[in-house]
Amino acid sequence: MPVRIDPSILAADFANLESEIARVASADLIHVDVMDNHFVPNLTLGIPVVESLQRVSPLPLDLHLMITDADHWAPVYAETGAYSVTFHAEAATDAVATARRLREIGARAGLAVKPGTDIAPYLDLLAEFDMLLIMTVEPGFGGQSFMADTMPKLAQAHAAVAKSGLDVWLQVDGGISEKTIEIAAAAGADTFVAGSSVFGAENAAAQIDLLRELAAKHSH
Ligand code: DX5
Ligand code: ZN
Repeated sequence: MPVRIDPSILAADFANLESEIARVASADLIHVDVMDNHFVPNLTLGIPVVESLQRVSPLPLDLHLMITDADHWAPVYAETGAYSVTFHAEAATDAVATARRLREIGARAGLAVKPGTDIAPYLDLLAEFDMLLIMTVEPGFGGQSFMADTMPKLAQAHAAVAKSGLDVWLQVDGGISEKTIEIAAAAGADTFVAGSSVFGAENAAAQIDLLRELAAKHSH
């Protein structure tokens, strides 16, 4: 399994997003956290900023929507041309219909679950999704501590994906650093969001290399 490193611009300088993205050019994807102050108690950015990022980013955008009414909004974000759109299971009324709509538009369809949300109901529907995001913190803020108690759920998802033979990416998001990435990789993650550990590093490229190397040691 390849390892993907996905820096979260939530930890970047919002006044200089183009140059911040240039600092992480050796990454695989750019993770963009969209928050609405309803689904999570924080507000970040919306469609106009995503459209601007779309124009300047040399890397594909991986949108993480932490917003209510995902059935309506996820396709609207996909229409910006985003490579991947992940919405929360807790915010969708028909996750399968929404995922199908994303694929029709041409985006990869990702489904996210908060630390307290069971993944089991979705493991029979794996063919509908291109990625599962197992949150490793409560969504809303960067810089929080990795919740190791989410690892059994990640391992459960990994077992189901392996059994299915489908190429569904398993993403983790929250508190991923050189101290925690190996734990998540060993439990089955292949796509790693890292905000503060990458953008907070003096040499972001070296930090990406380090994270990639540590994760690859446990690649499944
Ligand atoms: C949190 C966001 C994360 C956040 C991760 O709700 O979904 O993507 O940027 O930040 P770190 O890596 O600092 O925990
Ligand atoms: Zn995120």
